[in-house]
Amino acid sequence: MLPKTRVSDPELYQLVEEELYRQEHNIEMIASESTVPLEVMELSGSVFTNKTLEGYPGSRFQAGAEVADKLETMAIERAKALYGCEHVNIQPYSGATANYGVYAAILEPGDTVLGMRLDQGGHLTHGSPANFLYKVYKFAAYGVDPETEEIDYDALEKQAKEIKPKLIIAGGSSYPRLIDYERISKVAKEVGAYFMVDMAHVSGLVAAGVIPSPVPYADFVTSSTTKTFCGPRGGMILCKAEHAKKVDKGVFPGSLGSMHLTTMAAKAWCFKHMATPEFKELMQQIVVNAKLLAEELSKYGFRIVSGTTDNHLIMVDLRPKNISGKVLQNALDSIGITVNKNQIPFDPASPFVTSGARIGLTSITQRGLREKEVKIIASIMNDVANAPEDEAVLADCKARVLQLIENFPLYPAGSFDD
Ligand SMILES: Cc1ncc(COP(=O)(O)O)c(C=O)c1O
Repeated sequence: MLPKTRVSDPELYQLVEEELYRQEHNIEMIASESTVPLEVMELSGSVFTNKTLEGYPGSRFQAGAEVADKLETMAIERAKALYGCEHVNIQPYSGATANYGVYAAILEPGDTVLGMRLDQGGHLTHGSPANFLYKVYKFAAYGVDPETEEIDYDALEKQAKEIKPKLIIAGGSSYPRLIDYERISKVAKEVGAYFMVDMAHVSGLVAAGVIPSPVPYADFVTSSTTKTFCGPRGGMILCKAEHAKKVDKGVFPGSLGSMHLTTMAAKAWCFKHMATPEFKELMQQIVVNAKLLAEELSKYGFRIVSGTTDNHLIMVDLRPKNISGKVLQNALDSIGITVNKNQIPFDPASPFVTSGARIGLTSITQRGLREKEVKIIASIMNDVANAPEDEAVLADCKARVLQLIENFPLYPAGSFDD
């Protein structure tokens, strides 16, 4: 692995080795993570990194763009075919910057934007006071129904009619259910707003047709190319043809500089791979595993937010188990299961403590874990939640984690041999 760095900077090389070891020996259940195919790693480190380029195919600010033009055009065509959309911009560096590209394309300072509350499933870039854009736009937030813990569409409609936003955003970081895109798009039309869906978490599931696509309903669809997309650390924007020029200007020069051609090449590989039966089967299994983990955990007395999941993540209310998200996260981390503490809707605890945890099934499903292993993971989580400070229990759980994960290599043996 990394034969040049190993010699020129052993100290740095050591960190890469340590991280590989950590990933290999942990059960990784952070909902925003996935394990990239080796091709994605190869392409992310390719010679395209040497090329500085701005603009779009056929209209560049630098010479020497003929190969990059072919690359970007290929990636765009593949993405359009995969998602059935009219226009794609694949230059954004990440999901967050894809959102900034749309804002730069259509919003003016002082415009009103209606997004989902961060503590009920939304994202920092959809209107959190912690994000710098909070000072630029007037953000308002909708949330979930306290009973069903699903989006309160009636309240959203009422609020939209009152505040008349220029943009309505759907999609989020910790929302486990399907979203009625058609309904929100009707509200947006009625109040004269643009409609953007941030499908950062579910873009792999959408590509595989495992959950419904927002593309027919939204003016703009943004995404990370990590998470269920299972690709490089990047982003993209899909939109209708009528918005193409605005979006391209919003991305460059509106909000970003020169594109990352290495990442673009890796995205192009993913767009092809995501159309295969193998990818579809993976996405289907992720949802099967997630639903099963929700069922198993509720049998052990955890409360599943909204009762179940329709996608790759579950939100768990830990109060019935008398443990906070913070304590559970740390206890699980100590035995080799990585999850994150997360506020649940109407959470009385602070974001630093939380009453909940968010658990994602993408990485473990990629490694080949199926129903049998998911049941074992649920049982380990239950043992840890019941005795988060019991050294003997934790040691036993750690041994069970190692035994389980050893049979499912992160990458095939020999992948990193020189
Ligand atoms: C809904 C949503 N949008 C955007 C982002 C930001 O994506 P990135 O980390 O690729 O910038 C995230 C990340 O978790 C997300 O969940």
